[in-house]
Amino acid sequence: MLKIAVLVSGGGTNLQAIIDRVKDGTIADAEIDVVISNNKGAYALERAEKSGIDALVISPKDFEDRAQFNQALLSELKARKVDLVVLAGYLVVVPETVISEFRNRIINIHPSLIPSFCGKGYYGLKVHEAVLSRGVKVTGATVHFVDEGTDTGPIILQKAVEVKQSDTPEVLQRRVMEEAEWVILPRAIAMIAKGQISVVDGLVRVEE
Ligand code: GRF
Repeated sequence: MLKIAVLVSGGGTNLQAIIDRVKDGTIADAEIDVVISNNKGAYALERAEKSGIDALVISPKDFEDRAQFNQALLSELKARKVDLVVLAGYLVVVPETVISEFRNRIINIHPSLIPSFCGKGYYGLKVHEAVLSRGVKVTGATVHFVDEGTDTGPIILQKAVEVKQSDTPEVLQRRVMEEAEWVILPRAIAMIAKGQISVVDGLVRVEE
């Protein structure tokens, strides 16, 4: 049984997609052990509670310095013996101690086709604004393992989404979530739970 921690900051629609796919059995042999938010007001916390999942707030604001926050997050994940950490709209930089302790066991969903529109400064609506200003006709989402860089880790899954001429950043963001993020994030977790994913020489290898 794969024990999952989901880290969130906001609305938690990606979290909801994971909860729904665990409930309907599409993600098999996995359970969400805990949802951790850096933001007390995150609606994602309510989604977790409604589904009977432990919901915690671990916020940098509640600690004297970053090192203490980092330690608190790492301790919680280790104490729970989590197998996989899922960043689902988590807006905090993951501490390097957590990345090295959970090497190739942290995944993130990014709302573009990496390596386009990613890296520092590309988060939330800014990604979709940049897509529209550049005039690309196809965007999408990427699930990748998290390493010490920003959006640089091994790519697990990607899905393309059409950009329409009439799109606003908000409209495009919604389409990318519905058509790509909510599909490939649960799919990647299901593949990891089945033991199909490994990382070899910095690239993801999928066992059929
Ligand atoms: C998503 O667009 C995700 O790709 C981005 O933040 C948003 C999170 O939305 N990193 P939600 O909290 O899952 O609804």
